[in-house]
Amino acid sequence: MTGTDLFTTDTSGLAIDIGRLQQRLADLAAIGAIEGTEGSARLALTDEDKEGRDLVVGMMTDLDMTVTVDAIGNVIATMAGQIDGPPVMCGSHIDTVRTGGRYDGNLGVLAGLEVVEVLRSAGITPYRPIAVGIFTDEEGARFAPDMLGSLVYVGGMALEEALDITAIDGARLGDELDRIGYNGPMPVPGPAPHAFVELHIEQGPVLEVEGITIGAVDGVQGISWQEVTVSGQSNHAGTTPMNLRKDPGYVAAACASFIRELAIDLGHPQVSTCGRMQFAPNLVNVVPASATFTVDLRNTDEAALQEAEQRFAEFLASTAAAEGCTYEVEELARFEPVVFDPKVVDLVADTAAALGHSVRRMPSGAGHDAQMFARVCPTAMVFTNSKDGLSHNPLEYTAPDDLEAGANVMLHVLLALAAD
Ligand code: GLV
Ligand code: MN
Ligand code: MN
Repeated sequence: MTGTDLFTTDTSGLAIDIGRLQQRLADLAAIGAIEGTEGSARLALTDEDKEGRDLVVGMMTDLDMTVTVDAIGNVIATMAGQIDGPPVMCGSHIDTVRTGGRYDGNLGVLAGLEVVEVLRSAGITPYRPIAVGIFTDEEGARFAPDMLGSLVYVGGMALEEALDITAIDGARLGDELDRIGYNGPMPVPGPAPHAFVELHIEQGPVLEVEGITIGAVDGVQGISWQEVTVSGQSNHAGTTPMNLRKDPGYVAAACASFIRELAIDLGHPQVSTCGRMQFAPNLVNVVPASATFTVDLRNTDEAALQEAEQRFAEFLASTAAAEGCTYEVEELARFEPVVFDPKVVDLVADTAAALGHSVRRMPSGAGHDAQMFARVCPTAMVFTNSKDGLSHNPLEYTAPDDLEAGANVMLHVLLALAAD
């Protein structure tokens, strides 16, 4: 195509089309739609994930982008630049938790396509290529750890190890990737981009509470996920005296309660969640034989996160021993806090201010693909407001004005990064 040189073209007036972006968000949300809500369920590598991928890949080819798929299923679509070489990359994920909203992840991918459409319509060829990525299994809800596709892309986990991960439903990741047809030929680790920027909803309350439009994200807190399986003595619920029980259900419940008190004791920004718990045989009148539960601990400070892990480990050991139970702990994910590139964070903040938006620097409470790219290239994120701070919930909502503001900040950040 014939392009206009970014150096000679005034791009300051370019703006995204919010109607077009919302239409794409709605089209994607219709796949795996959760009835009666605006949300969707597209757990990684399920049929719904495949259908969502097919839809977005179609959008990418309609925009004349070159689409590649790598060996872990990451999809990278590239708009050619005036020079070859590493692209400025944006993107995110389109898998969701089982109770997903329509913005988490999807916004970062679809806003990237909107940026490409704006440039195409204006007849602009960026100096550097611009790429939009869909990264496999960001949520980690079906296959742990989270951010798996971007982790493998940057060389943080070997492909073979990733392909062998077992889902919560027993499926093998590599088999599911083959089944949905997204086992692609591009090798991993992939080439480092020139820079990486991810637009995402905040998924928390800070921007809304403070009345601020844009977050210039300067880092991501550390994440520690564990799955604990406690085993005891299954027995009759009516005949077994309390002092003779070996009850894994009790140990699990005590741990769930302990990690909440632990987070309160350590204070902000420590958070803790027990999000999944299963008993076997899971019957009203049977002391469980085993209990399996997850622990999610996060903190922006690595030393504090290690302290939380240590105190939980001690509590689990002493409580299980006192109850006569044994246990096993599997680490599902462990990522240290990440600091983004100050120059890219400044660029996000300055761009937001230049577009007339209020902006604050802030860390991310959620994990994101950008934190993996921060290992290999200058990276930052743009946050936009989440109504009532809700996410991982079909009620997740971001107003059109906020979507538009966030996408326009990303447009101009990408233009700046692609121009030098
Ligand atoms: C995943 O993205 C998470 O933050 O839980
Ligand atoms: Mn997300
Ligand atoms: Mn999420």
